[in-house]
Amino acid sequence: MISPMTDTPPAAPHATPRMKPWIAQIRAYIPGRSAGADGRELIKLSANENPLGCSPLATDVLQQSRATALYPDPDSGALRERLGQIHGIDPALIVCGTGSGELLNCAVQAFAGRDDTGTGNSGPDEIIFSRYAFSLYPLLAHKVGAKAVLAPDSDYAASVDALLDAVTPRTRVMLLDNPNNPTGTYLPHAEVERLHAGLPGDVLLVLDQAYAEYLPGEDAARALMMAAQHQNVLVTRTFSKIFGLAGERIGWATGAPGLIDALNRLRGPFNVSASGQVAALAALGDQAFLDRSRQHNSLERDRFATAIATLGNRGIRALPSEANFLLVLFDGELDAATALDGLAHKGYAVRHLPGQGLANGLRITVGKREDMEAIAAAITEMADSANPPA
Ligand SMILES: Cc1ncc(COP(=O)(O)O)c(C=O)c1O
Repeated sequence: MISPMTDTPPAAPHATPRMKPWIAQIRAYIPGRSAGADGRELIKLSANENPLGCSPLATDVLQQSRATALYPDPDSGALRERLGQIHGIDPALIVCGTGSGELLNCAVQAFAGRDDTGTGNSGPDEIIFSRYAFSLYPLLAHKVGAKAVLAPDSDYAASVDALLDAVTPRTRVMLLDNPNNPTGTYLPHAEVERLHAGLPGDVLLVLDQAYAEYLPGEDAARALMMAAQHQNVLVTRTFSKIFGLAGERIGWATGAPGLIDALNRLRGPFNVSASGQVAALAALGDQAFLDRSRQHNSLERDRFATAIATLGNRGIRALPSEANFLLVLFDGELDAATALDGLAHKGYAVRHLPGQGLANGLRITVGKREDMEAIAAAITEMADSANPPA
């Protein structure tokens, strides 16, 4: 027997813990930055946060909420109840998470991995998403040892045909962020229905609706309806975007009982903080703030898109967006890296995603009017100097 005090177990020479190979291939998520290379603080339009902040009702409860020695409600009961009332969903079919990111993570972990058939047909399961989908997705696949399969895009947007073509017997999960981050593009509900109809029933379709509240019309509600009607559709939503509560880390998901059961097994036991639960509840009670945020977003997004459209002859264009950001593509003399530096010089942090194959693009969150005007003017000025009149 080895005594912990006196004997050391034999160790291989120079042995160190070895990371699993599928973990070693993970490239850690790179968050949007808020400072320049010189450490100077910039106006942050790099993480799709709400430039209007959050509801004053949420600010009030956050100011009143005191640090407490007691754990929060482990099931976020009151919040699930309220979400259920608002969206007409049985609260038992709602699960809250530390942001929707935790729930996406749990969904992938529950339904995909290295092999679950036990048939000797071992190897990684496959998780499909569109070529320019959310940059977290490859990381989620690699975490569980699954293979990330990128379906070709259609002018940067998700293509239903390409997504369906990518399905194989090893496919376990398909992730669709709709609207799509970082492109802002959107698949109308009929296309989402067509995608679902073409999928085998044992493939989980995750509709990641982090930007659902920005959508006009009934499409967000229709996605929730799909989750209620099918055994293999999970919808995730968040308080990080239009609700302006990214710092509190609150998300939720809904789907069939078997899906919610899986997420509940995997999520953290006290995953939503006490302050997050009360802030989210308060935010749900402020329709005026949501309306104001939505109106601000669509007005300033359209104004900015119109300004960028004048630069088409310089090889600069913005993709159509249904979210609270736009992807501006620089395919002319002015390149995205130069524009990124120029905007930082003017005091703005926006998102460059070369690691995602988007070296030519900058994702710019819709901010306050004066900031969007200053950014459009700065890009125009840089484009002018890169393309001096003949
Ligand atoms: C498409 C998409 N899904 C999910 C998330 C995760 O958000 P959170 O974990 O803050 O809810 C984000 C955040 O940027 C996102 O863009």
